[in-house]
Amino acid sequence: MAGSILAIDQGTTSSRAILFGEDFQPISVGQREFAQHFPKSGWVEHDPEDLWSTTASVCREAIERAHVSISDVAAIGITNQRETTVVWDRKTGKAVYNAIVWQDRRTSEFCAKMREEGHENVFTAKTGLLLDPYFSGTKIAWILDNVEGVRERAERGELAFGTVDSWLIWNLTGGESHVTDATNASRTLIYNIHENAWDDELCKLLRIPMSMLPEVRDCADDFGMARSDLFGKPLAILGVAGDQQAATLGQACFEPGMVKSTYGTGCFTLINTGTNPVASRNRLLTTVAYRLGGETTYALEGSIFVAGAAVQWLRDGLGLIKSATETQELAEQADRKNSIYLVPAFVGLGAPYWDADARGAIYGLTRATGPADFARAALESVGYQTRDLLDAMQDDWTASGQTVLRVDGGMTASDWTMQFLADILGAPVDRPKVAETTALGAAWLAGSRSGAWPGQAEFSNKWHLDRRFEPSMAASVRDELMAGWRDAVRRTRSEA
Ligand code: G3P
Repeated sequence: MAGSILAIDQGTTSSRAILFGEDFQPISVGQREFAQHFPKSGWVEHDPEDLWSTTASVCREAIERAHVSISDVAAIGITNQRETTVVWDRKTGKAVYNAIVWQDRRTSEFCAKMREEGHENVFTAKTGLLLDPYFSGTKIAWILDNVEGVRERAERGELAFGTVDSWLIWNLTGGESHVTDATNASRTLIYNIHENAWDDELCKLLRIPMSMLPEVRDCADDFGMARSDLFGKPLAILGVAGDQQAATLGQACFEPGMVKSTYGTGCFTLINTGTNPVASRNRLLTTVAYRLGGETTYALEGSIFVAGAAVQWLRDGLGLIKSATETQELAEQADRKNSIYLVPAFVGLGAPYWDADARGAIYGLTRATGPADFARAALESVGYQTRDLLDAMQDDWTASGQTVLRVDGGMTASDWTMQFLADILGAPVDRPKVAETTALGAAWLAGSRSGAWPGQAEFSNKWHLDRRFEPSMAASVRDELMAGWRDAVRRTRSEA
């Protein structure tokens, strides 16, 4: 089909490529997992070569499986796990160290020290973020300070830094383009989201030479040409956005107040705040939702580190289920009288608590507690955490008003979980027909830039509802459940 777009979705556990037709429907998919490296407790790394080689293979697979002519592919769009940090040599194209993944906590002491020295305010004011190991800045600093010879090479201008999008584009273009987009830049802790520029003062505080940084472009822009030997013809890279921002686009959340939640390993909720970078009183992040035609649209973001990962824990940690799809069935067998709370702080708590030292806990166990109660508690924890985020958003930005939550990601296949979510939010939850919203967002950026796909208004009209979940829980029950959850979180927090 002419006007097809190849969307690359380079995620935390797998690389995927999806070829979309002009009708915004997926034609074919390629997917490969790659190794996760945990060299020390709290450290998470990827081999940058794995990120690139799996991406190149899945692109070829998607193209082959679609049985389309390569001349029908109009462009490439890229979306990626955000914050993950790669530093490489500009001459050889070789990374100087493994990619330090967004989940990696190795710089938590460094962040704490910077906070004690009173630096957090300036970072938050300029970047909308917090001084937390989650973001790229302190990961770059760690590589410069801990890998032999790297600081000198960086200061001589020999090294390049990039988030995963930059690294992939560098490889796709054979080292021709060292670029990123505004959404990925906005997660680095050194990008001023108000001035749309790398920030000299923040780079100095983290001792990062600015010569390492990529050029920042709009999300729909010219990012370079993928080498012709890769896919049989040169392909233009015309769209880039971090995965949560791409899902915001794929969900057509173009209007201020529209909000989406993506349920993967973690959960990321973004509310579009328009051209207004709303500062949070509740430790949410202010971030770039997208930059199109030079105009920045902002979002407030709540990031939860464990959503689907709680179900993985039921499967791999406890052996209660064989596959994730069994969770709903098991949860349905639970008796509300035996309710327990699971606070899945396996890697600390994300927004709005940001408590890196908290660890998971379960409350309310009795002799009657069984596997079904664990399954139910795991699914419910996702609803409670989302409610915490939306409450914080409404408190931060009263204009957010009455919310309809658009959802996507693996867990949204569970009707039970989505109904509980609507019940605990006391608001409707909308699940779209196209589940691949992240890749679709990247495809739309590239498709619209290429001219093969329509603009915002027509794309929004093509967003179709699969099912709306209406809240049906009595307000008194909801309030009681939330009070129990808040008490459980309070008891779990490290400073409690
Ligand atoms: O901020 C981290 C996020 O971008 C990771 O997303 O889907 O790769 O787990 P995912």
